[in-house]
Order: sequence, then structure tokens, then C-alpha cells
Amino acid sequence: MANNVNPRRNNIQYTRRKPKNRKNNDAPLRILMLILAAAVCCSVVFLVNYLKEDEPVNELPKETDFQQTTGEKDDTQKQTEDEQTTEKPVETTPPEPIYVPEFKADLSEYEMYMNPQGEQRDAYLVLVNIDNPLGSDYVPPDLVNVKSTRKDGRATQKLREYAAKALEALMLEAEACGVIKKNTPSGYPLSVMSAYRSYDYQRYLFYDVYLVQEMNRGLSREAAEKKVATYSNRPGTSEHQSGLCVDMHTLPSAGQAFKNEAEAKWLAENCYKFGFILRYPEDKIEQTKGIMYEPWHFRYVGRYHAKKMYDMNMCLEEYTEYLKNNG
Ligand code: DAL
Ligand code: ZN
Repeated sequence: MANNVNPRRNNIQYTRRKPKNRKNNDAPLRILMLILAAAVCCSVVFLVNYLKEDEPVNELPKETDFQQTTGEKDDTQKQTEDEQTTEKPVETTPPEPIYVPEFKADLSEYEMYMNPQGEQRDAYLVLVNIDNPLGSDYVPPDLVNVKSTRKDGRATQKLREYAAKALEALMLEAEACGVIKKNTPSGYPLSVMSAYRSYDYQRYLFYDVYLVQEMNRGLSREAAEKKVATYSNRPGTSEHQSGLCVDMHTLPSAGQAFKNEAEAKWLAENCYKFGFILRYPEDKIEQTKGIMYEPWHFRYVGRYHAKKMYDMNMCLEEYTEYLKNNG
């Protein structure tokens, strides 16, 4: 068996040996070292205090501060303030949090169109109605093809670029959400029937199609015009001329029955996420100058404004008025 040499167990105590031949002649050196150490300590303390003076300090309010808030100022203080030119702090409002909806589809490449920024943010807010007409020669500058035009032989519809791209995103998301059905009343999936219309084409629709139709049903010209004005705008006063709106649905032709389709409900609830508004809501006929409910007509304004209108339940007429009064 190995010898147990654990000193604790064997209760052995070791004592430190004093060094032999230690001389006492190093005393002056030790004193010098002590003095040096003390000098270094003092320097450090001084330096720390010096640096502290420059630091900002969260002080409790001074008595004079309370006097200022209660309006009680002594004469010396008033005089000093009069002599000083005080700069007022600039008032800043905190930036609004940016709303970013969650999508099933990857729409990242469309984000800039759905939610235009900078100068573009307010560029699509134009109000077009009977009181705010467009010139007869106005043609939007950047019309592009609408991919979701109904494939029934009609001409490919056109929209302004931002509106067209935002609509593409809307259709992709509708597809991803399972909203786009094939077994629809028309046999066509949700698709665009009408988008940009020129001044002349709007005139043709109002006078040569709808007015004639109503008169053929037995109405006088005056009564027919009044009737048509509830579902069509006169040339120059239709926002179809702006290239910023679409008629889209699943019916053979536009009709109020569309509101009962799942697509219409989804569009009404979600269009703002893509920058669109339901332009002629059921409860805003008076505000939209007598245009009846059109569950198929959607107008691009950009997400920033579309969401505000959705949240405040305002139509475009109300919202533009609200902006005038609230900056
Ligand atoms: N159908 C809408 C109201 C227009 O003609 O502008
Ligand atoms: Zn329309």
C-alpha cells in the first residue's frame, strides 16, 4: 500500500521559513516606493474628479425651476431673462409607425407600388367627381397593361403604372388566399372589365349606351339622364379617365349582386392593404354625389391613404375634405 502523505490528514503544519541573511538596509527604498505609490493614488483621484465635472448630471429641479412653472419670478430673474435671447426648442411630432400588412404571397417586389413613399405618397390622391372634373384632353402619363383583364376578347385594359402593379399584387394575394374561384356566375375568375377610359369613350358610354338604354325603357331624356347619373359619370367627371381605378368582378356584367360573392367581400375587407379603396360604398351615396353602391369599382390611392380611409370609414370626398381641415 502506498504511504499516505497527505499533510492535513497527518496533522502536519508547515511554517514559512524566514529568509536567511535578510538585510535591513533596504528601508529607504521601501519609503521611496511608498511615497511614489501615494503620489500615483493622489493623481488618479484628482484626474477622476476633474473628468467628472464635464459629465452631464441629471439634477433634481432647482427652486428656480418651480418658480418658472408657477409663474413666480423675482425681479432679478426677469431682468436676466429680458437680457437673454432665448431659443425656443423646436417642436417635433414623433413619426407615425409604418403599417406593413402580412401577406401569404411574397409581394416584396410590389411593396413600393402598394405603398409609395416620398413625393409619390400623395401623388395618387386626386379627387375626380362632378365638382372636380379632368380636362377633356387629359391622358394619364404612364399607362400600362392590366394583366388581369378578363380574357373574353376585350381589349387589354390599361392603368397607371403604380395602380397596375399594386393590382397585380392584389391578384397574387387573392390567389394565395384561395379567393380566385373558377366556378363563378360568368365562368370567368375575378377579372378586370374596365380600367382607363378616355374622355371620348366615357362620353360614348354615358350618352350613346346608357342614356339610349334608359330611354328605350320608356324614360324621358331628362329622367333617363338623371337615372344614368346614379351609375355613370359624365365625360370629364369619371375617375376612369384618371387611369387609377378598375371595375373588377365575377359576373357577366357589373351588378349589385356581386356584393354577395366571396371575392367582393374579400376585396372590400382587404383592398386597402394594396393601396385601393372601395370608391362608392353603400352608405356614402350622398357624399359621392349620388353615385350608387358599386361593389366592383376600386380606386388606387396608395396604402398610406387607403388605410386611413378604411380606418376612419371615409370615402374619398370626405377624406380630401378632412385633409384640408387637418393638414
Ligand atoms: N361608374 C363610375 C361611377 C363612373 O362612370 O365613373
Ligand atoms: Zn368603375
